[in-house]
Amino acid sequence: MTRPKVIAGNWKMHNGPSATQGFFRDFEPEMPDAAVVLIVFPPALSFAAAVQSRRGRPEVELGVQNVFWEPKGAFTGEVSAAMAMAAGATYVLVGHSERRHVFGETDSEVTQKVQAVVKEGLVPVACVGETLAEREAGRVEEVILRQLDAILDGVDCLPGCRFMVAYEPVWAIGTGETATSDDARAAHAVLRSRLEAHLGIAEADKVPILYGGSVKPGNAGNLLATPGVDGVLVGGASLDAESFSQIVESV
Ligand code: PGA
Repeated sequence: MTRPKVIAGNWKMHNGPSATQGFFRDFEPEMPDAAVVLIVFPPALSFAAAVQSRRGRPEVELGVQNVFWEPKGAFTGEVSAAMAMAAGATYVLVGHSERRHVFGETDSEVTQKVQAVVKEGLVPVACVGETLAEREAGRVEEVILRQLDAILDGVDCLPGCRFMVAYEPVWAIGTGETATSDDARAAHAVLRSRLEAHLGIAEADKVPILYGGSVKPGNAGNLLATPGVDGVLVGGASLDAESFSQIVESV
């Protein structure tokens, strides 16, 4: 099966409401002939501005960067999947390495979040990836499979619900160091074969696996052409409409 390429922009804690309006004003990629899924993940406080600014741009879909697993309650500072849905989100990033390593999210918390997201009918983009120390210790496969298995074993609608995976080696995020095509190909093959073993080939075929970590206009074409790479999750280079447009055009 040929999966459409997915180009996703994770803005992290950048682009407030007026910068968000500016981004959508300037974001005019020449859409490639091939089918492409385009997703932007603005910060929660810019989400309403993104919904408004993208009116008339059905090619851009929106997601939030994080949710808490409870639907509502006394959880100061958190937002729920139900709120993300009501605000107009389609996707939710879950288990991004900054959530895991800066905010201490565990595999089991990531699983609870994925469960809450699919229950709401939103599509989780579940991130996995090893640190530099883990890579140097030869533990890439063990770490990314542990992170993926927690989700596959703990989410009750799998197989059945929509879901994406992003392979984001922690050492490549925001560092300017990108995985080589060979590194990406190897990690994606490990993840794909676990998805197939767990979900069956037909269901696994519907799950895109994105690569993330210092993707830029200059390397996006090469990464997107790597076998097994179904798309890219772009941080820094997605903040600026021009560079994000160039990445879309490199499909
Ligand atoms: P980067 O971030 O492209 O700035 O490395 C990627 C990500 O964290 O999703």
